[in-house]
Amino acid sequence: MMRDSFDGPIDNPISITTERYAAILGANPSKGARSPLLWNAGFAAAGIDAVMHPMDTTVENLSTVIAALKADRRYLGGAVTMPHKQAIAAHLDRLEPEAARIGAVNAIYRDGDALVGANTDGAGALAQIEELVGGANALATKRALLIGLGGAGIAVAAYLAGHVASLMLANRTRSVADEVAARLSSTAVDYPVSRRVLETIDLLVNATTIGHQDGLQGSPVSADDLGALPVGAVVYDIIYQPRETPLLRAAAARGLAVRDGLGMNLDQAVIAFVKANPAALDMDAVRAAMLAA
Ligand SMILES: NC(=O)c1ccc[n+]([C@@H]2O[C@H](COP(=O)([O-])OP(=O)(O)OC[C@H]3O[C@@H](n4cnc5c(N)ncnc54)[C@H](OP(=O)(O)O)[C@@H]3O)[C@@H](O)[C@H]2O)c1
Repeated sequence: MMRDSFDGPIDNPISITTERYAAILGANPSKGARSPLLWNAGFAAAGIDAVMHPMDTTVENLSTVIAALKADRRYLGGAVTMPHKQAIAAHLDRLEPEAARIGAVNAIYRDGDALVGANTDGAGALAQIEELVGGANALATKRALLIGLGGAGIAVAAYLAGHVASLMLANRTRSVADEVAARLSSTAVDYPVSRRVLETIDLLVNATTIGHQDGLQGSPVSADDLGALPVGAVVYDIIYQPRETPLLRAAAARGLAVRDGLGMNLDQAVIAFVKANPAALDMDAVRAAMLAA
């Protein structure tokens, strides 16, 4: 029998009044996560009778919550946020290969009775970087350096690898760079990054938290050192709060092409939405509605 409310082991019980529903699972997405805003705009644009609910879930309750969602055919998938991106993998039926390679899940979709884990952060960033450099063929000629290998950085690195001519990885904790570089057949370099390394690249990606409004001020590469980048190099920052980080400001002041992380944030949501709603969708309309939201 269908339940009309979901008051199991989540901290913010919800009533389900739509035909289908999505969920964002995390420690406290009810306190301001952006996904419900984006997904609900997408549902409205696509004419789907569904709503995304934030579900505050503890690590201890994750297994029970996933089992209940799996059994409820109205649940069509959704988003996963901190701190469950790694732990949730063990509770899903299978992972897309990229999510398995990254070791983190930020999106879930239903495939029949099975719940599948995906990682759309990297795909979102790749789409943005391709656009920034002028397409996939142009990207394939780029010598890239990515700084920062936290949850998001590893996802972006996994997607960049194989789409660029060469990929160097730098991380404050060097052992992480060594481990990820070995896994992705790329090269680890020291952080802070030397001018000698900067001279050899034409795509710089920041995936550290340096420059985030709630985090560290400053830039992962100094304004002076940005001068070592070749003419025509481009700089991409996955941070979108603020949109103009000190890194992007300094790079733009040097005349380099730059892009912030807002488009990635939007694209990862659009890609996840389409996976969970595979019926014929006007993706442009969904993207436009999410952008407006
Ligand atoms: N645009 C989007 O859609 C999107 C999506 C996800 C995240 N983001 C943004 O991306 C950033 C990273 O997110 P995340 O989830 O990957 O964070 P995370 O898992 O906490 O990773 C943080 C990264 O920053 C590095 N770092 C932190 N403090 C540092 C310092 N003082 N000096 C040098 N490196 C430092 C860490 O290095 P260690 O390994 O040495 O600690 C690690 O590589 C955040 O600002 C987040 O808002 C954007």
